[in-house]
Amino acid sequence: MLVTTKKMLNDAKNGGYAVGAFNAENAEMVWGIVHAAEELNAPVIIQTTSSTLKYFPPVYFVHMAKAAAESTGMPVALHLDHGANFELAEECIDSGYTSVMIDGSALPFEENIRVTQKVRDYADNFGIPVESELGKIGGKEDDTESGESQYTDPGQAAEFVNRTGISSLAVAIGTAHGIYAKKPVLDFNRTTLIKKTVSVPLVMHGASGLSDEALREGVEKGMNKINFATELRIAFTAAIKAHMAEHPNDFDPKKYLGPARIAVKELVKAKIQVCGSAGKA
Ligand code: 13P
Ligand code: ZN
Ligand code: NA
Repeated sequence: MLVTTKKMLNDAKNGGYAVGAFNAENAEMVWGIVHAAEELNAPVIIQTTSSTLKYFPPVYFVHMAKAAAESTGMPVALHLDHGANFELAEECIDSGYTSVMIDGSALPFEENIRVTQKVRDYADNFGIPVESELGKIGGKEDDTESGESQYTDPGQAAEFVNRTGISSLAVAIGTAHGIYAKKPVLDFNRTTLIKKTVSVPLVMHGASGLSDEALREGVEKGMNKINFATELRIAFTAAIKAHMAEHPNDFDPKKYLGPARIAVKELVKAKIQVCGSAGKA
């Protein structure tokens, strides 16, 4: 059974750890993520971006995630990552997603609040928690170009959370989507300031390319959900390339996707360990 992110993230907040949220594009990645969680007895979040849902509609991921959760017995949440608009959040909730993010970070403050409220009102009918972003996390993730980052203003965070009624808050503290061209300057002090004003769990995006040390500091400073996408895509594709270089005549997808899903599983296990969520299922 799929669970929502509500209790998962509140438990993480109370326990001082983070739940890993991993982006999937296909069945093999869903398998790798959930089997990593099973091996470490960890709660886990599978998430899909708006552009991934143009590749496969939400209902595909609902059934894949349910199958993975049922076959392992793990608490698995299925989350819409960077929901582009109200309609997509609505479609995901109607299809069986157990958590959604609405990303109004490109909008002015009042408009971001308005679209977040609209999604929250709809989600409330089904008991589905909503994540929203204040500030702007920069970089590029698949088709989602977020450009320059804009740090979250701790002075606005409480008003944003109170007026939107969201369950978790994505904050911009210097992380970016994709792999970093140069070492990012992370402003964890800002996390501490934000935590003083809001009580909902905080979400760190753009975790691919961060050192384990930086990730651990993020957890220590109070990030309760950490998003990984790019590193999974790289690991998956690198395993396929390596397999095909060695066996150029293979044509059975199981032959080259098998090692790819194992590569995802191993990477996810390492990230779960750093997040501190192993053994928390
Ligand atoms: P990365 O591209 O750094 O993996 O970021 C993932 C993310 O924030 C998904 O929302
Ligand atoms: Zn993100
Ligand atoms: Na990143």
